[in-house]
Amino acid sequence: MKLWSGRFAKDTDALVNELNESISFDQRLYREDIQGSLAHAKMLGDCGIISQPDAAAIAEGLNGILRDIEAGKVEFTADNEDIHMNIEALLTARIGDAGKRLHTARSRNDQVALDFRMYVRREIPVIAGQLLELERVLCRQARQYQTAVMPGYTHLQRAQPISFAQHLMAYAQMFARDVTRLEDCAGRLNQCPLGSGALAGTTYPIDRRQTAEALGFDAPMDNSLDGVSDRDYALELLSDLSILMMHLSRFAEEVILWCSWEFKFIELDDAYATGSSIMPQKKNPDVAELVRGKTGRVYGDLMGLLTVMKGLPLAYNKDMQEDKEPVFDAVDTVEMCLPVFARMLDTMTVHTDNMRQAAGRGFINATDCADYLTKKGMPFRDAYTVTGRLVAECTAKGKTLEELTLEELRAASDLFGEDVYEALKLENCMALRRSFGGPAVSETTGQIQRIERFVEARGT
Ligand code: ARG
Repeated sequence: MKLWSGRFAKDTDALVNELNESISFDQRLYREDIQGSLAHAKMLGDCGIISQPDAAAIAEGLNGILRDIEAGKVEFTADNEDIHMNIEALLTARIGDAGKRLHTARSRNDQVALDFRMYVRREIPVIAGQLLELERVLCRQARQYQTAVMPGYTHLQRAQPISFAQHLMAYAQMFARDVTRLEDCAGRLNQCPLGSGALAGTTYPIDRRQTAEALGFDAPMDNSLDGVSDRDYALELLSDLSILMMHLSRFAEEVILWCSWEFKFIELDDAYATGSSIMPQKKNPDVAELVRGKTGRVYGDLMGLLTVMKGLPLAYNKDMQEDKEPVFDAVDTVEMCLPVFARMLDTMTVHTDNMRQAAGRGFINATDCADYLTKKGMPFRDAYTVTGRLVAECTAKGKTLEELTLEELRAASDLFGEDVYEALKLENCMALRRSFGGPAVSETTGQIQRIERFVEARGT
Protein backbone atom coordinates (compact mmCIF):
# COMPACT_ATOMS: atom_id res chain seq x y z
CA MET A 1 0.00 0.00 0.00
CA LYS A 2 1.24 3.46 -0.83
CA LEU A 3 2.15 5.94 1.91
CA TRP A 4 -0.18 8.46 0.31
CA SER A 5 -3.04 6.05 -0.53
CA GLY A 6 -5.49 7.66 1.93
CA ARG A 7 -7.24 9.94 -0.54
CA PHE A 8 -7.28 7.40 -3.39
CA ALA A 9 -10.03 4.89 -4.20
CA LYS A 10 -8.09 2.94 -6.82
CA ASP A 11 -4.63 1.44 -7.19
CA THR A 12 -2.14 3.20 -9.42
CA ASP A 13 -1.92 1.82 -12.93
CA ALA A 14 1.19 -0.31 -13.39
CA LEU A 15 2.47 1.90 -16.20
CA VAL A 16 2.06 4.97 -14.03
CA ASN A 17 4.09 3.27 -11.34
CA GLU A 18 6.80 2.63 -13.87
CA LEU A 19 6.80 6.24 -15.06
CA ASN A 20 6.60 7.65 -11.55
CA GLU A 21 9.26 5.66 -9.75
CA SER A 22 12.72 7.08 -9.17
CA ILE A 23 14.10 4.46 -6.78
CA SER A 24 15.93 2.81 -9.70
CA PHE A 25 18.27 5.78 -9.79
CA ASP A 26 17.79 7.85 -6.63
CA GLN A 27 18.84 4.96 -4.37
CA ARG A 28 22.26 6.46 -4.92
CA LEU A 29 21.14 9.11 -2.39
CA TYR A 30 20.51 6.70 0.49
CA ARG A 31 23.33 8.03 2.66
CA GLU A 32 22.32 11.65 2.25
CA ASP A 33 18.71 10.73 2.87
CA ILE A 34 19.52 8.98 6.14
CA GLN A 35 21.90 11.74 7.24
CA GLY A 36 19.18 14.32 6.63
CA SER A 37 16.61 12.26 8.50
CA LEU A 38 18.94 11.80 11.45
CA ALA A 39 19.44 15.56 11.74
CA HIS A 40 15.73 16.21 11.29
CA ALA A 41 14.69 13.65 13.93
CA LYS A 42 17.19 14.97 16.45
CA MET A 43 15.93 18.52 15.90
CA LEU A 44 12.30 17.35 16.29
CA GLY A 45 13.25 15.74 19.59
CA ASP A 46 15.28 18.73 20.81
CA CYS A 47 12.46 21.14 19.96
CA GLY A 48 9.91 18.97 21.75
CA ILE A 49 7.98 18.26 18.53
CA ILE A 50 8.39 14.51 19.03
CA SER A 51 9.40 12.75 22.26
CA GLN A 52 13.06 12.06 23.02
CA PRO A 53 12.44 8.27 23.13
CA ASP A 54 10.86 8.48 19.66
CA ALA A 55 13.80 10.53 18.39
CA ALA A 56 16.19 7.95 19.83
CA ALA A 57 14.27 5.04 18.31
CA ILE A 58 14.29 6.77 14.92
CA ALA A 59 18.04 7.35 15.10
CA GLU A 60 18.71 3.75 16.02
CA GLY A 61 16.38 2.50 13.31
CA LEU A 62 17.96 4.71 10.65
CA ASN A 63 21.49 3.68 11.60
CA GLY A 64 20.45 0.04 11.36
CA ILE A 65 18.98 0.65 7.90
CA LEU A 66 22.18 2.39 6.82
CA ARG A 67 24.26 -0.57 7.96
CA ASP A 68 21.98 -3.01 6.20
CA ILE A 69 21.99 -1.04 2.94
CA GLU A 70 25.79 -0.90 2.99
CA ALA A 71 25.91 -4.64 3.68
CA GLY A 72 23.69 -5.21 0.64
CA LYS A 73 20.88 -6.58 2.77
CA VAL A 74 18.16 -4.16 1.71
CA GLU A 75 15.99 -4.52 -1.35
CA PHE A 76 14.31 -1.35 -2.46
CA THR A 77 10.93 -1.51 -4.11
CA ALA A 78 9.35 0.58 -6.85
CA ASP A 79 6.09 0.30 -4.91
CA ASN A 80 7.59 2.88 -2.59
CA GLU A 81 8.48 5.15 -5.48
CA ASP A 82 11.68 6.77 -4.35
CA ILE A 83 14.51 6.54 -1.86
CA HIS A 84 12.73 8.79 0.63
CA MET A 85 9.60 6.63 0.90
CA ASN A 86 11.58 3.40 0.75
CA ILE A 87 13.60 4.37 3.78
CA GLU A 88 10.60 5.72 5.66
CA ALA A 89 8.67 2.53 4.98
CA LEU A 90 11.61 0.40 6.11
CA LEU A 91 11.90 2.45 9.27
CA THR A 92 8.23 2.12 10.15
CA ALA A 93 8.34 -1.61 9.45
CA ARG A 94 11.23 -1.88 11.89
CA ILE A 95 10.28 0.49 14.73
CA GLY A 96 6.53 1.02 14.34
CA ASP A 97 4.79 4.26 15.32
CA ALA A 98 7.93 6.26 16.08
CA GLY A 99 8.88 5.75 12.42
CA LYS A 100 5.62 7.35 11.36
CA ARG A 101 6.57 10.49 13.32
CA LEU A 102 9.77 11.13 11.33
CA HIS A 103 7.99 12.97 8.53
CA THR A 104 6.50 15.56 10.91
CA ALA A 105 7.26 19.10 9.73
CA ARG A 106 8.94 17.84 6.58
CA SER A 107 8.10 17.10 2.96
CA ARG A 108 9.71 14.99 0.31
CA ASN A 109 10.21 18.26 -1.52
CA ASP A 110 12.67 19.65 0.99
CA GLN A 111 14.02 16.15 1.57
CA VAL A 112 14.99 15.61 -2.06
CA ALA A 113 16.32 19.16 -2.34
CA LEU A 114 18.54 18.43 0.65
CA ASP A 115 19.71 14.98 -0.46
CA PHE A 116 20.59 16.09 -3.95
CA ARG A 117 22.42 19.17 -2.74
CA MET A 118 24.47 17.06 -0.34
CA TYR A 119 25.24 14.60 -3.12
CA VAL A 120 26.59 17.40 -5.34
CA ARG A 121 28.56 18.73 -2.37
CA ARG A 122 30.06 15.28 -1.81
CA GLU A 123 31.16 14.74 -5.42
CA ILE A 124 32.83 18.13 -5.89
CA PRO A 125 35.95 17.28 -3.84
CA VAL A 126 36.18 13.90 -5.58
CA ILE A 127 36.34 15.56 -9.00
CA ALA A 128 38.57 18.37 -7.74
CA GLY A 129 40.94 15.73 -6.33
CA GLN A 130 41.11 14.01 -9.70
CA LEU A 131 41.86 17.33 -11.36
CA LEU A 132 44.67 17.94 -8.89
CA GLU A 133 46.13 14.53 -9.70
CA LEU A 134 46.03 15.46 -13.38
CA GLU A 135 47.82 18.71 -12.50
CA ARG A 136 50.55 16.74 -10.76
CA VAL A 137 51.06 14.63 -13.87
CA LEU A 138 51.23 17.73 -16.07
CA CYS A 139 53.79 19.40 -13.80
CA ARG A 140 55.91 16.25 -13.70
CA GLN A 141 55.90 15.91 -17.48
CA ALA A 142 56.42 19.62 -18.06
CA ARG A 143 59.50 19.66 -15.82
CA GLN A 144 61.15 17.18 -18.20
CA TYR A 145 60.39 19.04 -21.41
CA GLN A 146 61.15 22.67 -20.72
CA THR A 147 63.82 22.83 -23.43
CA ALA A 148 62.01 20.57 -25.89
CA VAL A 149 61.24 22.87 -28.82
CA MET A 150 57.99 22.26 -30.66
CA PRO A 151 56.03 24.32 -33.13
CA GLY A 152 53.25 26.35 -31.55
CA TYR A 153 50.27 26.60 -33.88
CA THR A 154 47.55 28.99 -34.87
CA HIS A 155 44.97 27.79 -37.42
CA LEU A 156 46.81 24.46 -37.03
CA GLN A 157 49.60 26.11 -39.05
CA ARG A 158 53.07 26.23 -37.56
CA ALA A 159 53.40 29.65 -35.99
CA GLN A 160 56.13 30.28 -33.42
CA PRO A 161 58.46 28.12 -31.35
CA ILE A 162 57.32 27.01 -27.90
CA SER A 163 58.34 24.19 -25.60
CA PHE A 164 56.35 21.05 -24.97
CA ALA A 165 56.35 22.11 -21.31
CA GLN A 166 54.59 25.34 -22.14
CA HIS A 167 51.99 23.53 -24.20
CA LEU A 168 51.24 21.15 -21.32
CA MET A 169 51.10 23.97 -18.80
CA ALA A 170 48.50 25.79 -20.87
CA TYR A 171 46.18 22.90 -20.03
CA ALA A 172 47.29 23.01 -16.41
CA GLN A 173 45.92 26.57 -16.29
CA MET A 174 42.55 25.43 -17.62
CA PHE A 175 42.29 22.61 -15.09
CA ALA A 176 43.22 24.98 -12.27
CA ARG A 177 40.33 27.21 -13.29
CA ASP A 178 38.10 24.12 -13.33
CA VAL A 179 39.09 23.43 -9.73
CA THR A 180 38.28 26.96 -8.62
CA ARG A 181 34.99 26.90 -10.51
CA LEU A 182 34.02 23.76 -8.57
CA GLU A 183 35.11 25.42 -5.34
CA ASP A 184 32.89 28.39 -6.15
CA CYS A 185 29.98 26.05 -6.78
CA ALA A 186 30.58 24.30 -3.45
CA GLY A 187 30.66 27.63 -1.66
CA ARG A 188 27.43 28.89 -3.18
CA LEU A 189 25.46 25.68 -2.73
CA ASN A 190 26.16 25.34 0.95
CA GLN A 191 22.82 26.55 2.28
CA CYS A 192 20.31 24.14 3.67
CA PRO A 193 16.82 23.71 2.18
CA LEU A 194 15.60 21.40 4.97
CA GLY A 195 12.68 22.94 6.83
CA SER A 196 11.25 24.53 3.68
CA GLY A 197 8.54 21.89 3.99
CA ALA A 198 6.47 21.26 0.87
CA LEU A 199 6.98 24.91 -0.07
CA ALA A 200 5.53 27.07 2.70
CA GLY A 201 7.56 26.17 5.75
CA THR A 202 5.70 24.72 8.72
CA THR A 203 3.62 25.62 11.76
CA TYR A 204 5.81 23.48 14.01
CA PRO A 205 8.49 25.29 16.03
CA ILE A 206 11.38 23.75 14.10
CA ASP A 207 14.97 24.96 14.34
CA ARG A 208 16.34 25.27 10.83
CA ARG A 209 19.65 26.60 12.07
CA GLN A 210 20.22 23.45 14.09
CA THR A 211 19.65 21.10 11.14
CA ALA A 212 21.64 23.33 8.79
CA GLU A 213 24.57 23.29 11.17
CA ALA A 214 24.30 19.57 11.93
CA LEU A 215 24.48 18.85 8.20
CA GLY A 216 27.51 21.07 7.64
CA PHE A 217 25.74 23.95 5.90
CA ASP A 218 26.63 27.59 6.42
CA ALA A 219 23.00 28.62 6.95
CA PRO A 220 19.41 27.63 6.18
CA MET A 221 18.12 28.87 2.82
CA ASP A 222 16.32 32.18 3.22
CA ASN A 223 13.11 31.45 1.34
CA SER A 224 11.13 28.23 1.59
CA LEU A 225 9.79 28.42 -2.00
CA ASP A 226 13.29 28.87 -3.31
CA GLY A 227 14.45 26.12 -0.95
CA VAL A 228 12.40 23.46 -2.73
CA SER A 229 12.59 24.92 -6.25
CA ASP A 230 16.26 25.69 -6.63
CA ARG A 231 18.42 23.41 -8.75
CA ASP A 232 21.04 26.04 -9.58
CA TYR A 233 23.72 24.03 -7.81
CA ALA A 234 23.09 21.08 -10.12
CA LEU A 235 23.17 23.35 -13.17
CA GLU A 236 26.34 25.00 -11.92
CA LEU A 237 27.96 21.63 -11.45
CA LEU A 238 26.89 20.55 -14.95
CA SER A 239 28.18 23.84 -16.39
CA ASP A 240 31.49 23.39 -14.61
CA LEU A 241 31.73 19.80 -15.80
CA SER A 242 30.86 20.83 -19.35
CA ILE A 243 33.68 23.37 -19.39
CA LEU A 244 36.01 20.80 -17.82
CA MET A 245 35.10 18.25 -20.51
CA MET A 246 35.61 20.89 -23.19
CA HIS A 247 39.17 21.29 -21.88
CA LEU A 248 39.73 17.56 -21.78
CA SER A 249 38.29 17.26 -25.27
CA ARG A 250 40.61 19.87 -26.74
CA PHE A 251 43.52 18.12 -25.10
CA ALA A 252 42.23 14.77 -26.37
CA GLU A 253 42.10 16.17 -29.89
CA GLU A 254 45.75 17.20 -29.66
CA VAL A 255 46.77 13.83 -28.25
CA ILE A 256 45.03 12.19 -31.22
CA LEU A 257 46.86 14.48 -33.65
CA TRP A 258 50.19 14.00 -31.90
CA CYS A 259 49.83 10.20 -32.11
CA SER A 260 49.25 10.26 -35.87
CA TRP A 261 52.00 9.35 -38.31
CA GLU A 262 51.69 12.89 -39.65
CA PHE A 263 52.89 14.31 -36.31
CA LYS A 264 54.40 11.46 -34.27
CA PHE A 265 55.11 13.83 -31.38
CA ILE A 266 54.09 11.24 -28.80
CA GLU A 267 53.38 7.57 -28.49
CA LEU A 268 50.88 6.21 -26.00
CA ASP A 269 51.73 3.38 -23.68
CA ASP A 270 50.31 0.04 -24.82
CA ALA A 271 48.11 -0.05 -21.73
CA TYR A 272 46.40 3.17 -22.85
CA ALA A 273 45.90 2.40 -26.52
CA THR A 274 43.91 -0.16 -28.47
CA GLY A 275 44.28 -2.18 -31.64
CA SER A 276 42.19 -2.82 -34.71
CA SER A 277 40.33 -6.05 -35.46
CA ILE A 278 41.49 -6.04 -39.07
CA MET A 279 44.53 -3.79 -39.47
CA PRO A 280 47.40 -5.43 -37.62
CA GLN A 281 49.59 -2.32 -37.66
CA LYS A 282 47.10 -0.09 -35.84
CA LYS A 283 47.56 1.46 -32.44
CA ASN A 284 44.63 3.72 -31.78
CA PRO A 285 44.21 6.54 -29.24
CA ASP A 286 40.75 5.31 -28.19
CA VAL A 287 41.06 6.75 -24.70
CA ALA A 288 41.44 10.26 -26.07
CA GLU A 289 38.69 9.70 -28.63
CA LEU A 290 36.27 8.43 -26.01
CA VAL A 291 36.98 11.39 -23.77
CA ARG A 292 36.34 13.69 -26.74
CA GLY A 293 33.16 11.77 -27.53
CA LYS A 294 31.87 11.70 -23.96
CA THR A 295 32.12 15.48 -23.85
CA GLY A 296 28.96 15.44 -25.97
CA ARG A 297 27.01 13.53 -23.36
CA VAL A 298 28.03 15.87 -20.56
CA TYR A 299 26.90 18.86 -22.65
CA GLY A 300 23.69 16.92 -23.24
CA ASP A 301 23.23 16.47 -19.50
CA LEU A 302 23.54 20.23 -19.01
CA MET A 303 21.16 21.04 -21.87
CA GLY A 304 18.69 18.44 -20.62
CA LEU A 305 18.44 19.88 -17.13
CA LEU A 306 18.37 23.50 -18.31
CA THR A 307 15.45 22.52 -20.52
CA VAL A 308 13.64 20.69 -17.71
CA MET A 309 13.89 23.75 -15.49
CA LYS A 310 13.15 26.52 -17.96
CA GLY A 311 9.37 26.71 -17.74
CA LEU A 312 8.66 25.45 -14.25
CA PRO A 313 6.40 27.56 -12.07
CA LEU A 314 7.25 27.73 -8.37
CA ALA A 315 7.57 25.64 -6.35
CA TYR A 316 8.22 21.88 -6.71
CA ASN A 317 7.02 20.11 -9.86
CA LYS A 318 7.49 16.43 -10.59
CA ASP A 319 9.47 17.41 -13.70
CA MET A 320 12.26 18.02 -11.24
CA GLN A 321 12.62 14.31 -10.62
CA GLU A 322 14.40 14.45 -14.00
CA ASP A 323 17.23 16.41 -12.37
CA LYS A 324 19.13 13.46 -10.99
CA GLU A 325 20.00 11.21 -13.92
CA PRO A 326 21.83 13.88 -15.95
CA VAL A 327 23.87 14.88 -12.91
CA PHE A 328 24.69 11.27 -12.04
CA ASP A 329 25.63 10.62 -15.65
CA ALA A 330 27.87 13.68 -15.89
CA VAL A 331 29.55 12.92 -12.55
CA ASP A 332 30.14 9.28 -13.54
CA THR A 333 31.47 10.29 -16.93
CA VAL A 334 33.89 12.88 -15.59
CA GLU A 335 35.04 10.63 -12.76
CA MET A 336 35.76 7.90 -15.29
CA CYS A 337 37.55 10.15 -17.79
CA LEU A 338 39.83 12.17 -15.52
CA PRO A 339 41.94 9.40 -13.94
CA VAL A 340 42.44 7.47 -17.16
CA PHE A 341 43.36 10.64 -19.02
CA ALA A 342 45.93 11.47 -16.35
CA ARG A 343 47.40 7.95 -16.52
CA MET A 344 47.53 8.14 -20.31
CA LEU A 345 49.57 11.36 -20.14
CA ASP A 346 51.72 10.05 -17.34
CA THR A 347 52.81 7.02 -19.37
CA MET A 348 53.20 8.53 -22.85
CA THR A 349 56.52 8.59 -24.67
CA VAL A 350 57.46 12.00 -26.03
CA HIS A 351 59.37 12.17 -29.32
CA THR A 352 61.22 15.44 -28.82
CA ASP A 353 63.26 14.80 -31.97
CA ASN A 354 60.12 14.77 -34.13
CA MET A 355 58.84 17.91 -32.47
CA ARG A 356 62.16 19.62 -33.10
CA GLN A 357 62.11 18.49 -36.71
CA ALA A 358 58.60 19.78 -37.24
CA ALA A 359 59.62 23.05 -35.66
CA GLY A 360 62.47 23.30 -38.18
CA ARG A 361 60.13 23.52 -41.14
CA GLY A 362 57.33 26.03 -41.49
CA PHE A 363 59.27 29.26 -40.90
CA ILE A 364 58.30 29.53 -37.25
CA ASN A 365 61.31 31.83 -36.78
CA ALA A 366 59.96 34.34 -39.30
CA THR A 367 58.73 36.65 -36.52
CA ASP A 368 62.20 36.45 -35.00
CA CYS A 369 63.72 37.39 -38.34
CA ALA A 370 61.50 40.47 -38.51
CA ASP A 371 62.31 41.23 -34.86
CA TYR A 372 66.04 41.01 -35.72
CA LEU A 373 65.68 43.72 -38.34
CA THR A 374 63.48 45.78 -36.03
CA LYS A 375 66.09 45.65 -33.30
CA LYS A 376 68.62 46.92 -35.89
CA GLY A 377 66.44 49.98 -36.45
CA MET A 378 63.99 49.05 -39.21
CA PRO A 379 60.33 49.82 -38.40
CA PHE A 380 58.55 46.54 -37.59
CA ARG A 381 56.07 46.85 -40.47
CA ASP A 382 58.92 47.14 -42.99
CA ALA A 383 60.82 44.30 -41.33
CA TYR A 384 57.66 42.20 -41.63
CA THR A 385 57.46 42.90 -45.37
CA VAL A 386 61.15 42.13 -45.96
CA THR A 387 60.82 38.86 -44.04
CA GLY A 388 57.67 37.98 -45.98
CA ARG A 389 59.62 38.36 -49.20
CA LEU A 390 62.43 36.19 -47.84
CA VAL A 391 59.92 33.49 -46.92
CA ALA A 392 58.58 33.55 -50.47
CA GLU A 393 62.15 33.28 -51.78
CA CYS A 394 62.83 30.35 -49.44
CA THR A 395 59.66 28.60 -50.56
CA ALA A 396 60.72 28.96 -54.19
CA LYS A 397 64.23 27.68 -53.44
CA GLY A 398 63.17 24.94 -51.02
CA LYS A 399 65.21 26.49 -48.22
CA THR A 400 64.62 27.59 -44.63
CA LEU A 401 65.43 31.15 -43.52
CA GLU A 402 68.62 30.05 -41.80
CA GLU A 403 69.73 28.20 -44.96
CA LEU A 404 69.86 31.45 -46.93
CA THR A 405 73.39 32.77 -47.42
CA LEU A 406 74.37 36.12 -45.97
CA GLU A 407 74.48 37.46 -49.55
CA GLU A 408 70.92 36.35 -50.18
CA LEU A 409 69.85 37.93 -46.90
CA ARG A 410 71.72 41.15 -47.51
CA ALA A 411 70.14 41.44 -50.92
CA ALA A 412 66.88 41.93 -49.02
CA SER A 413 68.34 44.28 -46.37
CA ASP A 414 71.87 45.41 -45.58
CA LEU A 415 70.99 45.33 -41.88
CA PHE A 416 71.59 41.57 -41.90
CA GLY A 417 74.91 40.50 -40.37
CA GLU A 418 76.53 37.20 -39.29
CA ASP A 419 74.65 37.35 -35.99
CA VAL A 420 71.35 36.71 -37.78
CA TYR A 421 72.06 32.98 -37.75
CA GLU A 422 72.13 32.94 -33.96
CA ALA A 423 68.93 34.97 -33.90
CA LEU A 424 67.21 32.46 -36.18
CA LYS A 425 68.16 29.36 -34.15
CA LEU A 426 64.92 27.95 -32.79
CA GLU A 427 66.45 27.25 -29.39
CA ASN A 428 67.38 30.92 -29.13
CA CYS A 429 64.04 32.09 -30.48
CA MET A 430 62.39 30.17 -27.69
CA ALA A 431 64.88 30.99 -24.94
CA LEU A 432 64.58 34.71 -25.67
CA ARG A 433 60.82 34.74 -25.27
CA ARG A 434 61.20 35.66 -21.64
CA SER A 435 58.12 37.85 -21.38
CA PHE A 436 55.96 36.83 -18.42
CA GLY A 437 54.08 33.63 -19.29
CA GLY A 438 56.30 32.93 -22.29
CA PRO A 439 58.07 29.69 -23.30
CA ALA A 440 61.57 30.53 -21.98
CA VAL A 441 62.68 28.09 -19.30
CA SER A 442 62.67 30.79 -16.64
CA GLU A 443 59.00 31.39 -17.41
CA THR A 444 57.82 27.78 -17.67
CA THR A 445 59.60 27.05 -14.40
CA GLY A 446 57.53 29.79 -12.80
CA GLN A 447 54.35 28.42 -14.33
CA ILE A 448 55.09 24.93 -13.08
CA GLN A 449 55.93 26.18 -9.60
CA ARG A 450 52.72 28.18 -9.35
CA ILE A 451 50.59 25.19 -10.32
CA GLU A 452 52.53 22.98 -7.91
CA ARG A 453 51.76 25.47 -5.16
CA PHE A 454 48.13 25.56 -6.20
CA VAL A 455 48.00 21.77 -5.82
CA GLU A 456 49.88 21.75 -2.51
CA ALA A 457 47.64 24.48 -1.07
CA ARG A 458 44.74 22.09 -1.56
CA GLY A 459 46.63 19.47 0.39
CA THR A 460 45.66 16.19 -1.25
N1 ARG B 1 11.18 11.40 -6.12
C1 ARG B 1 10.92 12.81 -6.07
C2 ARG B 1 12.02 13.57 -6.83
O1 ARG B 1 12.96 12.97 -7.20
C3 ARG B 1 10.91 13.27 -4.66
C4 ARG B 1 9.99 14.42 -4.37
C5 ARG B 1 8.61 14.08 -4.66
N2 ARG B 1 7.68 14.97 -4.14
C6 ARG B 1 6.39 14.93 -4.49
N3 ARG B 1 5.60 15.72 -3.94
N4 ARG B 1 5.99 14.09 -5.39
O2 ARG B 1 11.92 14.74 -7.10
